[in-house]
Amino acid sequence: MTDTQHPHQERVLIIDSDPDRSRHFQTLLDFLGYRCEASDAGQVQRQDTLDLDAYAAIFVDNDEALRHHFLELNQKQKCQYPLVVMTDDPGNGEVAHLPYISAIGNHPDYRSLNRVLEKLRHHNRRERRRSNREIQNLIGCSPAIAEINRMIEQVANTSASVLIMGESGTGKEVIARNIHAHSDRRDKPFVPINCGAIPSELLESELFGHEKGAFTGAISARKGRFELADGGVIFLDEIGDMPLNMQVKLLRVLQERTYEKVGSNHSNKTDVRVIAATHRPLEDMIAKGSFREDLYYRLNVFPIEVPPLRERREDVPPLIDELIARIEREKRGTVRLTARAKQMLAQYDWPGNVRELANLIERLAILHPHDVVDVRDLPARYLSEEACQRLKEETEVLPAETPVAAPHSLPGGGLDLKQYLADIEVAMIEQALDETGNVVARAANLLGMRRTTLVEKMRKYAIER
Ligand SMILES: Nc1ncnc2c1ncn2[C@@H]1O[C@H](COP(=O)(O)OP(=O)(O)OP(=O)(O)O)[C@@H](O)[C@H]1O
Ligand SMILES: [Mg+2]
Repeated sequence: MTDTQHPHQERVLIIDSDPDRSRHFQTLLDFLGYRCEASDAGQVQRQDTLDLDAYAAIFVDNDEALRHHFLELNQKQKCQYPLVVMTDDPGNGEVAHLPYISAIGNHPDYRSLNRVLEKLRHHNRRERRRSNREIQNLIGCSPAIAEINRMIEQVANTSASVLIMGESGTGKEVIARNIHAHSDRRDKPFVPINCGAIPSELLESELFGHEKGAFTGAISARKGRFELADGGVIFLDEIGDMPLNMQVKLLRVLQERTYEKVGSNHSNKTDVRVIAATHRPLEDMIAKGSFREDLYYRLNVFPIEVPPLRERREDVPPLIDELIARIEREKRGTVRLTARAKQMLAQYDWPGNVRELANLIERLAILHPHDVVDVRDLPARYLSEEACQRLKEETEVLPAETPVAAPHSLPGGGLDLKQYLADIEVAMIEQALDETGNVVARAANLLGMRRTTLVEKMRKYAIER
């Protein structure tokens, strides 16, 4: 196990009487970003200190008593603990006959292990979704996100105006939608409008609607967003981009709770809660005269500031998990990141905040569908200088024509194939030994060969460890 444990890491439990195999699984699971815990059959059967619900997967010996114990638990508690049985005969139908039970060989490679875990993740998620059909939660384990979630709860059931401030892509709209979803207006509409994206001459009619013939082109009457949002919430996004003349009109709505459609003298009453958001520093704009101070105070009854992602780096890994889950929910494939890759991304500065992270994850899911992304697979801009350097050195240590460094194409002048293949073999053996702390048996597992074969090869190539 590494010292890179985070509370958000998915936990897995290993119940194994074979310490060698248990270590092998721990190494792979650790590499895949899971947090491993070990236990013994006795403890599980006593069920005294273990919270089995907490695990994304439970790896067990192919021990009949233990399996039956879990089957019984599943029936009694009407829940499904995601079991993975470690066995030398994973094809055995008796072991693998239930959707939430998987079987795996005693010495899998990380890809087959990942496949089994994906199947369970999928199953777990479906279970969880069934119990919990809701809007997008605000994800993060930082104190800032905890505080914002607390504020959302506090303010949701009031009718106070809320002003959400934060850089682009920090999740302002997610927050606005959560306030709506937690309020007693949740069954009424949530109507967003981007004040910056609509030409100023059309904004008034967008907000308040117009009567037929109110202006050239107004061939029929039209409802405005305030009317559409009646009883619910209007989300005024990019409020800092609202022209001054519209700011005056908006102020009046907030003060008097009435508005007029364009081309009408009739006053309409409105019961709409206003949530506004901006990435601009409104106080500076007030000083420069481009934002009205009175409107600012009206909107800023309950301010929420969302810090940029680089000020809450611990949110990056759980956000990655959430963004991957989202891609899976939408059936657009999946991808997995190693713990090291997640950590590397947590160190990046994210000028585009969560939106940039979401775009990267989408890209990785396309480039590495159903595969595992490690640090070396990340685009260079997301790597620290030190990591770049290290990767470069590793590549230089390998012979220039290894599959890592170059595609499998025959160089113009031809090549010594025997030597080329031998070079790859040596590089892979050295890497496997590095990764397993020179434990030959485990390195042999990683390479899918017997221990004795590896020892022979090491002798042949004079690899000394
Ligand atoms: N804490 C979070 N949890 C889950 N998803 C998030 C979170 N923060 C942002 N996102 C996701 O990131 C993307 C950008 O979020 P959102 O649109 O709310 O940001 P914004 O602050 O309104 O950005 P902009 O200023 O660019 O409009 C969305 O896909 C959103 O779902
Ligand atoms: Mg937005």
